[in-house]
Amino acid sequence: MGLLLRWSGSAVAGLALAAAALAPPAEGQTPDADAIKRGEYIFNAAGCLGCHTDEKNKGPRLAGGRALRTPFGTFHGPNITPDPTHGIGAWTEAQFLRALREGRGADGSHLFPAFPYTSFTGMTDADAKDLWAYLRAQPAVAQPNKPHDLGFPYNIRALMMAWNWLFFSPGEFRPDASPTPELKRGAYLVNALGHCGECHTPRNFFGATRGDMKMAGAVLGDGAVPNLTPDPDTGIGKWSPDDLVELLKSGMTPEGDFVGSEMGEVVANTTGKLTDADRRAIVAYLRSLPPIRHHVRKPAAK
Ligand code: HEC
Ligand code: HEC
Repeated sequence: MGLLLRWSGSAVAGLALAAAALAPPAEGQTPDADAIKRGEYIFNAAGCLGCHTDEKNKGPRLAGGRALRTPFGTFHGPNITPDPTHGIGAWTEAQFLRALREGRGADGSHLFPAFPYTSFTGMTDADAKDLWAYLRAQPAVAQPNKPHDLGFPYNIRALMMAWNWLFFSPGEFRPDASPTPELKRGAYLVNALGHCGECHTPRNFFGATRGDMKMAGAVLGDGAVPNLTPDPDTGIGKWSPDDLVELLKSGMTPEGDFVGSEMGEVVANTTGKLTDADRRAIVAYLRSLPPIRHHVRKPAAK
């Protein structure tokens, strides 16, 4: 009986395969609508829009060209629309998952960590696949990529191999020993999707985030990125959870000001688009971090 079932099972699978091969290719192989919808939420939670859209120059959505200034030079976010020549239309899902997980381009070359794969490596396979379905469903734009403008030796892709060996631990996110489901969710949203530490954690000489100063605040360009650990004097220790949730939702501080600069963009594209439950999970997680006393000073004006 068991044997028979298995036989008929594989026969059915074989038939389905044959049918799939015969069927005319569906419109761009339309992935299912639920996956696209879930993928849109991941896309927002992971903040993919900003770096891949040149909003300042009214560039087409996800078609690249946004200039990202770093101490190592200026990167330009590439085109990630489904255009087969200039975007990622010729990529397979497996190549996309490898880009997020290992920081590799379609041809296997090393991507620069200006693309925060160092955070996205923690994304679950299910979320990464939904994100892929969403990206495939966006309009293709035939806009060529702008080259990065990097100084020597940072322009050498192969150097990323050494950098990864020193600083990168790939793999799906595994939260610390048995926190509550809310803390687990918050940790995932902050570390793997929201990549908050890419701005809020200071970096070492090589541009890698410092493990001993997680979320303790940093200098970014000519601005200060605040300390998000629960230290009462230099961090968020005196904020109420509700005030923090409100800031993530609308960008408004308890004084009635609105966060600007990079964080304004994060609120508009990312935290403002999450569910309230997810915003609360982020806040619960931040408040559970070890407090680090670290006052971030703005660099002196040049
Ligand atoms: C902080 C800016 C930033 C964010 C956020 C970001 N990217 Fe990128 N991304 C880049 C840069 C810069 C590169 C180019 C890296 C390189 O050339 O080595 C890149 C490269 C890529 C590539 C490889 C493209 C190619 O042609 O090789 C893919 C795919 C990609 N990003 C997808 C995403 C997705 C999906 C998200 C959201 C989960 C995302 N990116 C979020 C900056 C960003
Ligand atoms: C691209 C850089 C960047 C990213 C990514 C980023 N932030 Fe921020 N964040 C900033 C900057 C810059 C400020 C200061 C804004 C201001 O004062 O106008 C800030 C301010 C804040 C504040 C206000 C703290 C205070 O003391 O005023 C909170 C809370 C915050 N960020 C949370 C987050 C969370 C949670 C994430 C991840 C979902 C995140 N940020 C991702 C750059 C960033």
